[in-house]
Amino acid sequence: MKVRFLGISLLLLALAGSCQKPQEKKPAEPVKEKLLPWEVANKYVVGFSQCTFEDPWRINMNKEMEDAAKDHREIRLVITNGENRNAKQIADVENLGVMQVQFLIISPREAAPLTPVVDKIYDAGIPVIVLDRKILSDKYTAFIGASNLEIGREAGKYLAEKLGNQGKIVEIEGILGATPTQERSQGFHEIIDRIPGLKVVYQQPGDYKRSPARWVMENALQAFSKIDAVYAHNDEMMIGAYLAAKAVAREKEMIFVGIDGQKEAVDMIRQGLLDATFVYPNGAKEALEAGLKIMKGQPVPKDIQLPAIRVTKDEALNYVGF
Ligand code: FRU
Repeated sequence: MKVRFLGISLLLLALAGSCQKPQEKKPAEPVKEKLLPWEVANKYVVGFSQCTFEDPWRINMNKEMEDAAKDHREIRLVITNGENRNAKQIADVENLGVMQVQFLIISPREAAPLTPVVDKIYDAGIPVIVLDRKILSDKYTAFIGASNLEIGREAGKYLAEKLGNQGKIVEIEGILGATPTQERSQGFHEIIDRIPGLKVVYQQPGDYKRSPARWVMENALQAFSKIDAVYAHNDEMMIGAYLAAKAVAREKEMIFVGIDGQKEAVDMIRQGLLDATFVYPNGAKEALEAGLKIMKGQPVPKDIQLPAIRVTKDEALNYVGF
């Protein structure tokens, strides 16, 4: 019975629908006199070769680029995941080349292994925007990023001041073949190595990841009965180091400095658990805008430098992070 009743109700509903007055027609959209090339053709494909999707900084970078792309209906953004492997990222770039993207944005995992394939794309006439991590040749159209050398120096100055020019430092590095790692270390040592009372007693890579950094710090804690500061090349590793120190109740013995401006780190700075981070801008929006300019034949500077700001407890009150 119920089934038949439902059937009849649906039939009545359908009939009622079909008897409704036809909707009033909207006035037609005015036709544009002249369409821009990308409005006539299919969407332009733009490629972004991302080195990894593994960490919060990269995830946020992808999101910001996707958001920026939404404002440009003329393009279709393709983001590839290098899975933190050079070989995978090289294959990704090759594929984007085959797709004949309008321009390529790349944040290379490591400089040397990715340089030849980027050269190849550039030589094929595809504009290349290098983002955050550099390549070794000058075959690119624009580089966008903050100065890692400067961040390293500022981190050094901050630690020197905090420690009163005296103390033992653990430096946890990022991926060794990535240029931010080299520059963050170089800038830091420029400052620290000139101060006799300060010494980097332990320096090991943590690959920009939390767990490896935690293991590095566990070893450092075993090797040194007193550590005054940790300088980690990113916030994930700073948090890893903090957790290692906390696990053996030594976290209050030292100060912690990181890079990125990640929300979790900023929260911990606000709580007084960690000391400072440097907000490292990802440049996603700027890269896309630069590419669009190049596509339209407009000039773009070869080096676009973004500002990095220090966040300590005071700034953390007004800064959220990602
Ligand atoms: C993310 C990341 C960031 C760091 C940047 C350096 O993969 O490790 O944490 O600031 O890359 O290129």
